Amino acid sequence: MRAIELSAFGLDHLQQVDLSAPRPGPNGVLVRMEAASLNFRDYMLVSGQLYRGVQLPIVPVSDGAGTVLEVGEAVTRFKPGDGVTTFYKSRWIAGAMRPEWEGAEIGAPYPGVMRELACFDQYSLARAPGHLSSLQAATLPIAALTAWQALELARITTGQTVLLLGTGGVSLFALQFAKLRGARTIMISSSDDKLDRAKALGADVGINYSKHPQWGALVREATGGAGVDAVIETIGAATLAQSLDAVRMHGFIAVLGWIGGMDATLPLSKVVLKRVHLQGISVAPLEAHERMVAAIEATGLEPEIDRVFGFAQLRAAFEHLVAGRHFGKLAIDFNA
Ligand SMILES: NC(=O)c1ccc[n+]([C@@H]2O[C@H](COP(=O)([O-])OP(=O)(O)OC[C@H]3O[C@@H](n4cnc5c(N)ncnc54)[C@H](OP(=O)(O)O)[C@@H]3O)[C@@H](O)[C@H]2O)c1
Repeated sequence: MRAIELSAFGLDHLQQVDLSAPRPGPNGVLVRMEAASLNFRDYMLVSGQLYRGVQLPIVPVSDGAGTVLEVGEAVTRFKPGDGVTTFYKSRWIAGAMRPEWEGAEIGAPYPGVMRELACFDQYSLARAPGHLSSLQAATLPIAALTAWQALELARITTGQTVLLLGTGGVSLFALQFAKLRGARTIMISSSDDKLDRAKALGADVGINYSKHPQWGALVREATGGAGVDAVIETIGAATLAQSLDAVRMHGFIAVLGWIGGMDATLPLSKVVLKRVHLQGISVAPLEAHERMVAAIEATGLEPEIDRVFGFAQLRAAFEHLVAGRHFGKLAIDFNA
């Protein structure tokens, strides 16, 4: 079967290989992979920035979707024909995360999804929403679930205001989920065109952060001076000070990204005097994923896909991701 392997770090070392087809063990589920989607983490793996020891060669990319072909005799969650997605934090089923469950992650250290046939433990998979194609469902496991978890933990309800940073995959899912919860949304972006597209998706206010580097004050202005109830902090060091400026007293900041730098200077006066709740987020358990799938099905929500690449175009997809011109998710169609 066709697969893509990373033999050494760097985009030049992604190569198509022929691997033997896997067989499911008693708890295993054999899946015909039909689609994948990219997250920044996948680029960190390929470029050698991932912090954990990774054995090479490895099949890259964490998020994928497909159809169950065969199940082991102990499998109770799936049957042949079911549409499934991967579930990235594959030991975190429910409740609080435990240290011993960290690191059980598809797409390094566990093999990723860029292969036509893959066997997964039944708890490394989740049911795909019935109305979505595999291409659409493949965008959910990391980006959508992280956005879902941020809004759940922030307890966003009707009439509240949420601030979203940039127009990447996580932010656009957060925009869609915030709308489902009846919240008002403010989005910042480097591009007026992208802000127009975000407004078409339901964003109430758009601010261009390239034109307005001190956007925190504008966000407060847009909330009548009070500040937003929650910030979905996807960027990190480059934006945390402005996010603290934008959030209301006793507001919530979901700290989950670092494409704008890992080491932030924290203006403690704002954290303390505003009594801000800073909540670190690293994806979410399977029970939250299942709540998200139910909500997506109940509302008919469809992911925002910027561009679809073919199986053999993984390198081009990574180059597009790193260029940062995308709006929403980048997907890989295994049949193209
Ligand atoms: N903790 C977790 O569980 C978790 C899960 C998923 C992702 N993440 C992290 O969350 C972050 C976002 O992920 P993603 O998949 O949504 O990324 P993405 O699709 O690549 O989107 C990134 C977007 O961020 C915006 N941006 C970049 N620099 C910015 C700045 N200085 N100020 C404001 N916006 C800026 C850009 O939007 P514009 O082009 O509109 O300006 C860019 O398109 C990444 O750091 C990722 O690693 C964390």
